[in-house]
Amino acid sequence: MHHFLKETDFTLEQAQDVFTLAKQFKSARQNHAQPLSMQSWGLLFYKSSTRTRISFEVGVNELGGFPVVLNSQNTQIGRGETIEDSAKVMSRYLHGLVIRTFGHEIVEAFAAHATIPVINGLTDFNHPCQLYADLFTLLERYSPNAVDIATLRGKKVAFLGDCASNMANSWIHSAAMFGMDIALAGPEGFTPGQAIDEALAADGLAKAYTFTNDAKTAVQDADIVYTDVWVSMGDEGAAAQRKTAMTPFQVTSKLMALAKPDAYFMHCLPAHAGEEVSQEVLDSPQSIIFDEAENRLHAQKAIMAKLVELNG
Ligand code: CP
Ligand code: NVA
Repeated sequence: MHHFLKETDFTLEQAQDVFTLAKQFKSARQNHAQPLSMQSWGLLFYKSSTRTRISFEVGVNELGGFPVVLNSQNTQIGRGETIEDSAKVMSRYLHGLVIRTFGHEIVEAFAAHATIPVINGLTDFNHPCQLYADLFTLLERYSPNAVDIATLRGKKVAFLGDCASNMANSWIHSAAMFGMDIALAGPEGFTPGQAIDEALAADGLAKAYTFTNDAKTAVQDADIVYTDVWVSMGDEGAAAQRKTAMTPFQVTSKLMALAKPDAYFMHCLPAHAGEEVSQEVLDSPQSIIFDEAENRLHAQKAIMAKLVELNG
């Protein structure tokens, strides 16, 4: 069974197919093939969501399928039914399962026991659906006709703030996969961890990212400036300490001025204006945050369609 738990679960060739398909789905939104016809897909949430929940629910529907939205707390999972049994039971009803949860081992366990494709809708470790939407958003600009992944090569991404987060890990993994340069900047204690280095090694990808405590160094001549919340879901207990430590890494117009003049500002959202980014930057012409949000729909439809194709 072909799952999508991390960026490299598609080869480069398959990833190109996903972006090409996302472009087709976007340009003919109400008038395209429906590869999920007569299928039902579960969307299982252990955490809050606006974009992931809505884009998958709408996406399954637009592909001709029926979305079944589930919550860990009001299923028997919340009362201790094992992941193994839950995955086996769900596989008897559903044709695919999207999961947003805490530990990455939870989506891995679902995938190990399910007989249907599992898609990672965010874990504490990574957020690959967001990255495919973000890369598609860039490809629409770098090569609007072909959305050619080759046009990502050599682009410099600056990632600021919590460099130990799911979004930082996904950017590190994607940069290595697609040949982009990535410079991360954040405070000590929030550096990329061993898990992402092990994930790169497992894929045979070089550990090519840099980490600095100086925001300006990271942003210098960047093509893309990316940030995310300073307090991710599950980190609320250390909110005050995180906000104090990360204050020097707020993306301001002054900082953006160090990037290339045509650099894009990106954020997976939700944003906290005045914390990780200023309102001025969020509202600036360089900001492409709402295109990223929209593209969750088109990219995830393409991911689901590709998995259906690969799983025959
Ligand atoms: N970016 C993202 O995943 O948003 P949600 O938490 O609203 O799903
Ligand atoms: N890092 C954030 C991303 C939200 C989409 C979190 O995990 O809460």
